[in-house]
Amino acid sequence: MKSIDPTARDCYLLEIEGVELGPVIPGQFVHLRVLPATDPFLRRPFSVHSYDTGNRLLSLLFQERGKATGILKELKPGTAIDVMGPLGNGFTLNGVARALLVGGGIGIAPLYYLGRRLREAGVETRMLAGGATSLDLPAENYKPHPEVQILWSTEDGSRGYRGTVVAMLKEHLLKNPREETADMIYSCGPTAMLSEVVKTASNHRIPVEVSLEAVFACGVGACLGCVHPVNAREGTRYLRVCKEGPVFNGKEVIFDA
Ligand SMILES: Cc1cc2nc3c(=O)[nH]c(=O)nc-3n(C[C@H](O)[C@H](O)[C@H](O)COP(=O)(O)OP(=O)(O)OC[C@H]3O[C@@H](n4cnc5c(N)ncnc54)[C@H](O)[C@@H]3O)c2cc1C
Ligand code: FES
Repeated sequence: MKSIDPTARDCYLLEIEGVELGPVIPGQFVHLRVLPATDPFLRRPFSVHSYDTGNRLLSLLFQERGKATGILKELKPGTAIDVMGPLGNGFTLNGVARALLVGGGIGIAPLYYLGRRLREAGVETRMLAGGATSLDLPAENYKPHPEVQILWSTEDGSRGYRGTVVAMLKEHLLKNPREETADMIYSCGPTAMLSEVVKTASNHRIPVEVSLEAVFACGVGACLGCVHPVNAREGTRYLRVCKEGPVFNGKEVIFDA
């Protein structure tokens, strides 16, 4: 581990050097064993926040939630971390000219790498990022790429738009015609938020991809502990978030199961 720095309330940027991941698609995750100890026994999944292939430098943005993340935030530079990945299916990058990224809370984590990669590929990219207060968001100048514009929202109005990121998205799409706004929406955040983002995207006839969260055990498709229902041609199917996901076509995901 190279460094760990606080970025917002209970949130940290962790940099791990010497990680050989090969090609990484934004939206893929790594499965971490925090310490060689058996407690916590299970690995924990974290989205790739950034990966520099040349320097083999992996960055993760995480929020302290329980045991593993509580241990992670106390780790000292030089500590070895066991990283497995990249795992799962990432976001679709091809065929997009104008992208809108919508992140709620720690859901912004994978959208930074996505934003950087889209912009590097010449895609016009804008990010809408929301939190409860400005204390829950990273610094305003912390950007995926200098040419990615970020519109911030906070529920108490302490930074940017006053309200939820979904309310900001709705206003944004009403004010800006589809052809000037986005031909793809990508989103990550709490499930209730993703459901609203998908409804909003559908109302504006914009394709949408979402990164779902689930509690993982194996993380590699073996235990079936992470399945989520989706609409398929043959009816409802239960897909593994760790294997077929975590990124899904938002319009196929069943949110009210
Ligand atoms: C594909 C994927 C990517 C993720 N990427 C990130 C990321 O980039 N940054 C980040 O901070 N977190 C991310 N998470 C969530 C992260 O894996 C959990 O916060 C972490 O496993 C919690 O471990 P813990 O031991 O600290 O908490 P635990 O002690 O295991 O749990 C503490 C509390 O959090 C709840 N919880 C644990 N895991 C989840 C989960 N996955 N979803 C909802 N509630 C949960 C538990 O039910 C419990 O109430 C991701 C999860 C998935 C599935
Ligand atoms: S966590 Fe085991 S199948 Fe997904």
